[in-house]
Order: sequence, then structure tokens, then C-alpha cells
Amino acid sequence: MKMPIAVLLSGGGSNLQAIIDRIEEGVLDAQICLVFSNKADAYGLERARLHGLPTRSMVMGDFLDREAYDRAMLEVILESGAELVVLAGFMHFLSPPLVRAFENRILNIHPSLLPGFPGVAAQRQQAEYGVRLAGCTVHFVDEKMDNGPVIIQAAVPAFPGDDPESLGMRILEMEHRIYPQAIQWFSEGRLSLDGRQVIVDQFENQLVAENSAGFLINPPLEKGF
Ligand code: GRF
Repeated sequence: MKMPIAVLLSGGGSNLQAIIDRIEEGVLDAQICLVFSNKADAYGLERARLHGLPTRSMVMGDFLDREAYDRAMLEVILESGAELVVLAGFMHFLSPPLVRAFENRILNIHPSLLPGFPGVAAQRQQAEYGVRLAGCTVHFVDEKMDNGPVIIQAAVPAFPGDDPESLGMRILEMEHRIYPQAIQWFSEGRLSLDGRQVIVDQFENQLVAENSAGFLINPPLEKGF
């Protein structure tokens, strides 16, 4: 059975596109049952429509307060039949009741190697800080921002002279690679938690390879990802 997923976004939706592409290629066993946005003009909604996917947008200003908004959003997600909620550039902090309703069933992607550089300006902060390795993280969502257990990370080099855009593009390319892989692991029921540690069942590449220089490198992913 294909895992029904709801994708929540606020912007361009390139991660949504990567997920759609992997599904259409037949490597990701998921079915997008809802693309939800808190911005009516998010380009991600247009991407969804182009692929015939159900969309819904709700704007916070139309609701009495955040709690009312989140209650309505939860209802829409439940109605969609989603078993997993995938945050893909969703610029809205989920309230605790929503997180609890989908405990350990909400994933997020963040454009840094967490716990470094949480928050909304990660690309700019990494470029300004002058890190040598930047990257991205897919993690379970808990009640704190950019905080839940890490499922997979990928690193990219950062160079002197990088600006937030050049570094952001390099990171984004990796995001598109690791997010569909993490969703597939979830769909196959292969993710389990031991405290903060996420165990990926039968992921043979889990022990990161060492190259000849002795640096840890990104593990090769599974076929198709
Ligand atoms: C990505 O950088 C993601 O890590 C962050 O928001 C951005 C969304 O990009 N959470 P897109 O809308 O998927 O292109």
C-alpha cells in the first residue's frame, strides 16, 4: 500500500517537486493526498495542480487566532487521510496539539546540519559564519523548532565568496536527494526511535564510509535515490 502523505508548504515547492518526481519515477511508494499552504499564492500549489494533486490553502488572517487556525488545519489534514505530514518549506510553527495528533508522524527538512543554524535564516547565517561544511537535515518534528530526532543529514562544501543564494542552491540539491529517501524509509516502516537516536532498519550504508583521506563522507543512498 502506498503511504498517504500531506505536504505542507509556503513557497516555491522545489522539495514537493522532488517528492512528486520520485513518486512518478516509481521509486517512492507514497501518494500525495493533500498539498496544503498557508499562502494562497505559493508556487508549490501550482506545481501540485499541474500534477493533478488535491490542494488547499488557508490564511491565518481569516481565523480568530493561531489555535483556531491550527485546529482547522488539523481537520483538513485528517480529512485527507494522510498518515504522514511532510513539511516542505512550511513557514508556520505547528502548535503542540497538532504535533501531538501526529506524534512521530511529521517530518521536516531544514537547510543546515542541525543543531547548528536553526531558524529561518540558515543559508545566510552559514554563508556569513564561514563554515566549511554546510548541509541539510531531515528530522522528526517535536514541539520545539528544528529540534526533533535526526533521520538523515547531507553535507555540502561552503566556499569563501559563497553568498546565501549560491550556498542555498548547493544545499537545496542535497535536500531533493535526501527528503524522498527519508519518506520512503518512513513508508516502509523502517524508522524507529531509541531516545533521540533514529534507527533505520536494514540500511546497510548506515555506517558511513571513510575515503582515503580519512574524512567521513555522505553515505551512498539506496537504489533510485
Ligand atoms: C528549503 O530550503 C527547506 O530546507 C526549508 O525551506 C526551503 C523550501 O524550499 N525548510 P522549497 O519551497 O522546497 O523550494
